[in-house]
Amino acid sequence: MASRNEEHLQRALRSIPWGTQTNAKRHERDGMRERPAFIERAEGCRMWDLDGREFIDYRAALGPIVLGYQYAPVDAAVRRQMEKGILFSMASPVEAEAAEAILATTGWPEQIRFMKTGADACACCLRLARSRTGRDHFLSVGYHGYQDWFAMAWPNPGIPAALMPFVHEIAYGDAGALESVFAEHGSRLAAAVVVPLEWHLDPDPAFLKRLRELCDRHGAALVFDEILTGFRMARDGAAGYFGITPDMAAYAKGMANGYPLSAFAGKREWMRTLEQTILTTTYAGETLSLAAACAVMEIYRREPVHEHLHRTGAALRKGFEEIFSETGFPARTAGVDPGFVIDFSPAGEAAESLHPALFNALYAAGIFANEQWFVTYSHRESDIDQTLQAMRNSIRKVL
Ligand SMILES: Cc1ncc(COP(=O)(O)O)c(C=O)c1O
Repeated sequence: MASRNEEHLQRALRSIPWGTQTNAKRHERDGMRERPAFIERAEGCRMWDLDGREFIDYRAALGPIVLGYQYAPVDAAVRRQMEKGILFSMASPVEAEAAEAILATTGWPEQIRFMKTGADACACCLRLARSRTGRDHFLSVGYHGYQDWFAMAWPNPGIPAALMPFVHEIAYGDAGALESVFAEHGSRLAAAVVVPLEWHLDPDPAFLKRLRELCDRHGAALVFDEILTGFRMARDGAAGYFGITPDMAAYAKGMANGYPLSAFAGKREWMRTLEQTILTTTYAGETLSLAAACAVMEIYRREPVHEHLHRTGAALRKGFEEIFSETGFPARTAGVDPGFVIDFSPAGEAAESLHPALFNALYAAGIFANEQWFVTYSHRESDIDQTLQAMRNSIRKVL
């Protein structure tokens, strides 16, 4: 019988470039033949593809799902809000309710404004930094989305080359490059826009501390791109986890359990700069996502969500490490427990074939992940046990 996933992929490819809206969900990209192209339904930590195959999911919709799919109290809050309306001709009261709830959860920022995507939120932080400092240059660490200021390194990005000299991109943890960018351009830098963690690397708090010092010395804004670290590494994000306070931060994933919401937040003196530039969009006050965020924040404050993410991630990670060492599988884990990464570099050149072979075997065994493993509040001990068993069997198959 023909696979419904395969049939639907052919249909989607006719009307949608790559058959999907999100590059990381492209199916044909990396030859993972066992990975389904479409997910029809998800609940808790499990999801089902178009052929009815069930998976324990560790991709969390690329990060936004922290509590679990269809998390009942969040969806109930959204249904209640839907009875009142989604978007109005003036602001909705839920905007301030969500703002207060998020500021109370994150702790350090004084004001926040909503947008819709992670790329929006990062761009807004840079805009405010440029507006307040009157400077054009910025330092960048990590991925920040598709917008012009960041996406210049693509082969033919469709962005004026004249913007290129303003970008100073360095690798996470590269202390030498950090010093040279500030030495050469410090007085021209509006901001350092930085992911506080690259998940495939171990955390580098000394690098972040030095960034804080250099930004202070040169009057540049320190912007944490917390799109992926916010509400996952800790309730108060990487800023809380590392004890380093930026001037502004961009948030998105983890803020509303999958509902489309992002935000830029920061110290009042930076946020005030909004008065002299334009950052506005029609759908930013969409109420369903804001109602979801209110419910999510209440759960984060009331329940041990982040303890669960760390404990469950650590159990999975320790289990993988034991299996790798028992079987001699050439891999290790890196990063932090709630979203650690399997690093295939100990396999050398064999990584190129071992990597897809392992993941194809895992997909066939009903485990959905890529190198990065996101756990959620809905993953139970039994899910972890089932995953470890599947990892052991999959490794046996590929070795
Ligand atoms: C660290 C980081 N910044 C920015 C973005 C862009 O977010 P979005 O895809 O919502 O525009 C992402 C997306 O994965 C991200 O991981």
